[in-house]
Amino acid sequence: MENKKNIMDYETVALDEENHALVIIDQTKLPGKTEIISLTTQKDIWDAIYLLKVRGAPAIGDAAAIGIYLAAKNLQTDNYQEFYTEFKKAKEYLDSARPTAVNLSWALNRMEKVVIDNKAKTIAEIKELLRQEAIAIKEEDIWICQKIGEYGLSLVKPGDGLLTHCNAGQLATAKYGTATAPMYLGHQKGYNFKVFCDETRPLLQGARLTAYELSESGLDVTLICDNMSSNVMKNGWVNAVFVGCDRVAANGDTANKIGTSIVAIVAKRYNVPFYVCAPTSTIDYETPTGKEIKIEQRPDKEVVEMWYKERMAPEGIKVYNPAFDVTDNDLISGIITEYGIARPPYTESLQKIVALKNKK
Ligand code: MRU
Repeated sequence: MENKKNIMDYETVALDEENHALVIIDQTKLPGKTEIISLTTQKDIWDAIYLLKVRGAPAIGDAAAIGIYLAAKNLQTDNYQEFYTEFKKAKEYLDSARPTAVNLSWALNRMEKVVIDNKAKTIAEIKELLRQEAIAIKEEDIWICQKIGEYGLSLVKPGDGLLTHCNAGQLATAKYGTATAPMYLGHQKGYNFKVFCDETRPLLQGARLTAYELSESGLDVTLICDNMSSNVMKNGWVNAVFVGCDRVAANGDTANKIGTSIVAIVAKRYNVPFYVCAPTSTIDYETPTGKEIKIEQRPDKEVVEMWYKERMAPEGIKVYNPAFDVTDNDLISGIITEYGIARPPYTESLQKIVALKNKK
């Protein structure tokens, strides 16, 4: 394995057709080690999603689409009903890996639709259509991030200070990221942004991933601990916050990495615009408000020992470890999608976004 390339030269998620494998960067090893791994079994793919080897809502969707294609490809039957029954089992299995990011079930549902809509075709033809759909999901992700970047960039100016939380970067998507897309596009135009990355406890996606990929790309990045965002905003160093999201409810309430809502509350206090970058695949029109969003609970050990050789807390201590929190819609200045920027009131503006999408 080549270790010298820039992290941005690797694909976050790829299909290795010849070896029947989903290929990913093992993100739990970054930034210390760039390890590219090939996953061939459904169990390995499920584990990689659950263990955050591949993570970030769009990348999870991209990986699941390739994963279910590989499961379908391995099915040895010419009988449609048998094929569909086994496909459904594989789909349910992958869908159970993580509950909050809607992109996982969104991508798997899109793959299932291919199976349903092409019932009259041969199994070999359906498998080929599934391959094309998995590739299309990933390719569209690149276009979507680019559009979000363009809309996001229209909201800021050269020299601005920008703050982000967790990793909604290239490592969480097929390219550019969502929250980082305005940063990358601005950087290409010489905007000289000053980016603040929250380290993002407990798993440090901000420190290990966002600070890494942005600095590797030549942006001016300052890493801060999660409890410092109020300080930098009060100092007047932040002109806008861009974050990603895992699920947007129909009223604009937004689930993203734990700690995002704290940033939003602080941003409101200091009049800093707070933008959520959301591919329309992350908008869940079926979920009315944030209260109905299922929040993933993660193991205690992520808080008390992960990433360290020595324990950081007393043995047996009680731990609460929700992976996400919900930012109330009244704290959000705009939701940036690939079809434009939704502004409050979100129930109406998100409907307009979906109408625009359906028109295309
Ligand atoms: O637990 P993670 O690392 O998958 O959480 C990721 C986030 O919260 C991201 O901000 C979100 O998925 C958007 S990625 C474009």
